[in-house]
Amino acid sequence: MSEMQNIQWFPGHMTKTKRKIQSSLKLVDAVAEIIDARIPISSRNPDLAQIIQSKPRLVLINKCDMANQTATKMWIEHFKRQGITAIAIDCKSGRGLNQFAPAVNKVLAQRLEKLKSKGMINPMLRIMIVGIPNVGKSSFINRIAKQNRAKVEDRPGVTRGNQWYTIAKNLEMLDTPGVLWPKFDDKIVGEHLAFTGAVKDQILDIELLAVRLLDFLKKLKPKDFIERFKLEDADIENIESYELLELIGKKRGMLVSGGEVNTERAAIMLLDEFRAAKLGRITVEMPYEE
Ligand code: G4P
Repeated sequence: MSEMQNIQWFPGHMTKTKRKIQSSLKLVDAVAEIIDARIPISSRNPDLAQIIQSKPRLVLINKCDMANQTATKMWIEHFKRQGITAIAIDCKSGRGLNQFAPAVNKVLAQRLEKLKSKGMINPMLRIMIVGIPNVGKSSFINRIAKQNRAKVEDRPGVTRGNQWYTIAKNLEMLDTPGVLWPKFDDKIVGEHLAFTGAVKDQILDIELLAVRLLDFLKKLKPKDFIERFKLEDADIENIESYELLELIGKKRGMLVSGGEVNTERAAIMLLDEFRAAKLGRITVEMPYEE
């Protein structure tokens, strides 16, 4: 898998992406990094701190509708302890988005004071969105754009081609997000990205992935998962994950001629249901694992 992702993010591509983000960085006062609430470790870009240097930032923990609420709260606290402002959002329903402008203002309070002390009356703050593919950058920008006034276009003094959304009276957001690469050289990160569907299934062995997901679910034992497949404790405790995949397939009637279970179909079904949060609101990575 890591080989395929390396092809997707070959070094030249990474360099170009980095340069593009760095040039946008010159136009903004802060960076909002979107991450996936289910995998807050794996959905972060490993080089972000180095790319944005001292630029103030905040973290938007997206897809909270699919993650465990207690875990999300723990993540917010975890970031807080690191001095990073984080808010929980859900771009599907729009929940939490009203915290965005206040959070940016908080992160930029010092800068705002500085600008005001220099005599600027209503200083305008600018922010850009960054994140790895599939974390919800476009969803976020579209939602914010719909909620707020039309784009501010062709602003004098700003490079042509850059467009901004006014999202509060003193706040503008760049309309194009910075797309960053994940930490693809780590096998666990690759697996967790694949669990959530952030990387394409064609590049993975789907049954192996389902088995790895079952390894995790067997430990966590989410109530919805157990109930959905009417599993007994013995199913979870005493059998290998591959056998559990067979059992799940059998329960869903996924048999081929000869009575064997079609484990590929079972794997696809299991992953689809996990990705749609039908097995529960599950957070795969906890703060103490970081
Ligand atoms: P990107 O720009 O960072 O690449 O991500 P994008 O907004 O395209 O979102 C990727 C997928 O995640 C989309 O689903 C989107 O609807 C979904 N998504 C984004 N934010 C949230 C959220 O807070 N909660 C949930 N449940 N889903 C979210 P898709 O299946 O690829 O597209 P579509 O079916 O929505 O059209």
